[in-house]
Amino acid sequence: MLPSVKNLLSIEELSQKEVLDILSLAATMKKERGRHSVQPLKSQVWALIFSKSSTRTRVSFEVGVRELGGDVMFLSANDIQLGRGEPIRDTARVLGRMIHGAIIRTFAQQDVVDFASFSGIPTINALTDQEHPCQILADLQTIEEKRGSLEGVKVCFVGDGDCNVARSWMWAAKKLGFEIRVAAPEKYRPSKDFLDSLAYPVQVTEDCDAAAAGADVLYTDVWISMGKEEESALRLAELKDYQVNEKLLAQAAPDALVMHCLPAYRGKEITDEIMEAHAPTIFQQAENRLHAQKAILAMVAR
Ligand code: CP
Ligand code: NVA
Repeated sequence: MLPSVKNLLSIEELSQKEVLDILSLAATMKKERGRHSVQPLKSQVWALIFSKSSTRTRVSFEVGVRELGGDVMFLSANDIQLGRGEPIRDTARVLGRMIHGAIIRTFAQQDVVDFASFSGIPTINALTDQEHPCQILADLQTIEEKRGSLEGVKVCFVGDGDCNVARSWMWAAKKLGFEIRVAAPEKYRPSKDFLDSLAYPVQVTEDCDAAAAGADVLYTDVWISMGKEEESALRLAELKDYQVNEKLLAQAAPDALVMHCLPAYRGKEITDEIMEAHAPTIFQQAENRLHAQKAILAMVAR
């Protein structure tokens, strides 16, 4: 019997056991790719409903659903009535009567919560403004593979400390009990409300070197998240000192991993040299999206 969860809406909602179950199944999915004995999505149709661009998430879910025996349709929010203002709850009530599961990339976290509750079908958060849970689960799998274990890992996130990826990292740290530091300018700190709800110690500082000191993982993400394009010029100026580069990496542990969720903007949040030197880790993260998400699909499928 596979362990199960109802939906995958956030890391926040997962228990420690659920995180560990996903990681364990993700390792099995990776090992047994191409020769899975069970097809948990057999005869099922899943929809990807995306309001934002995607390469990795879209492709890994489309491949993953098919590898688990299911069929998949991609619905760009602009091409369905959702984009013309049909409420998410009505979209959910229609799709819930036709398909077996939904994978949603959108802006508001409440939209994936509402979709799950009004559709009654398994729902997966493929990125919202608030969290990017599938990414961080694949990243945890990558760290486990690279270091042998997540035990005692010190993770330093550099850049926009209030973005979806940073938030999912902080939740993951709480769930698994590891050390998390965030280096960000004052304006891009995780919000007080967020830190209050997290209720877990996070070292938040404007001092990149202090945050990176002795870290096992230096993690960065784009400075301009999807939906923030209007702030591009401001963000490039305000985040320019929060770059993963050779000087910063010198502060970290000698064998530190450099990680990036991608897409990467060389010369902005990461230098070309560091990106290329750490490409094996960074593209392993990208590959693990497939394996981790297959584990998630298998666990939420009914
Ligand atoms: N990291 C990530 O989610 O990539 P995409 O935006 O290409 O899906
Ligand atoms: N924080 C980024 C992640 C991209 C995968 C964004 O939301 O655009």
